[in-house]
Amino acid sequence: MQEYETTKRLKKWLEEAGVVVCTLPLETGLVAEIKGARPGPLIALRADIDGLPIEERTNLSFASVRQGVSHACGHDVHMTGILGAAFLLNEQKERMAGTVRILFQPGEESGSGGVWFASQPGVMDGVQAVLGFHNKPDLPVGSIGIKEGPLMAGCDRFEIEINGKGGHGGMPERCIDPIAAGSQLVNILQSIVSRRISSLDNAVVSVTRFQAGNTWNVIPDKAVLEGTVRTFQLSVRQKVAQYLKDICEGVALASGTKIDLQWHVGPDPVINDAGLAKLAAETGRKIGCRITKAEPNLAGDDFYIYSRYAPSCYLWVGTEGPYQWHHPAYTVKDGAEWVAAKFFCQLALDTLARFGTQG
Ligand code: NI
Repeated sequence: MQEYETTKRLKKWLEEAGVVVCTLPLETGLVAEIKGARPGPLIALRADIDGLPIEERTNLSFASVRQGVSHACGHDVHMTGILGAAFLLNEQKERMAGTVRILFQPGEESGSGGVWFASQPGVMDGVQAVLGFHNKPDLPVGSIGIKEGPLMAGCDRFEIEINGKGGHGGMPERCIDPIAAGSQLVNILQSIVSRRISSLDNAVVSVTRFQAGNTWNVIPDKAVLEGTVRTFQLSVRQKVAQYLKDICEGVALASGTKIDLQWHVGPDPVINDAGLAKLAAETGRKIGCRITKAEPNLAGDDFYIYSRYAPSCYLWVGTEGPYQWHHPAYTVKDGAEWVAAKFFCQLALDTLARFGTQG
């Protein structure tokens, strides 16, 4: 949520190209509009604009000059692609029926930037469809990954505090050992996916932190666990949350510890509208892109928020890079941004046409 310079730069480039930047009281992030000469539907293209607290190690001539901050998730490619689409659309607005709103959204990595942005007055008013993309390093340039339904996972976080009774390591019978209870808990949590969730559904339960004690001959008072749950369906998410709670209660009872579970609800899964996904595939083929079935991904994205306002579709655009997202040397192959610009220009036009004929 600190994209002040980025916002300024985007505004400058849009205005230089003659694209109307909306005057909204946004601290960071930006909304612009390309109004067609004729009336018609209102649709939106969204790009996230934030970086990550990662020192860039690409050695590129245009590498980040901000120490400890870089676009290691390729959101700069999202901006470039959507900016390009905005320029192309602006050149043909005389022939356009309807309006394309450009959403440059801050704070995606925080998990809540999109929620804040979309709720700001004037951002989502009247929008009938939302389209966006994430760069995908394992797809070649020229390929678009498309999938109906769930594309990215819902990402929740849990924190568990296990309170026992500390004491001498040689006399565990006089203690209530939170490490033993925590170890059981970690094991039983793994049975949620293997034994409680249907093999036809998907979920991930990962314990990512287990902290307790500070020496070899003392049983500590307390252990702390933290982790994440990833799901593609809201019903599965609810089930996992309930099982987690039940297991904590059961282990507390069996071990004599007191276990507090905090469940932090994160982003919902990103679920694509089937009609828009089909349309995107038609558009892609029409302009010579290779359409592949997108592999769902267990990372999250706050793009899900837009589906609460209008039908939405999130796509992969191939960027053919050697590293995965969030790597300090993350790069994309030249040309990927052009594919994104041309594709989203055409998809915006096709979506306007589709929603126009639906009346
Ligand atoms: Ni990202």
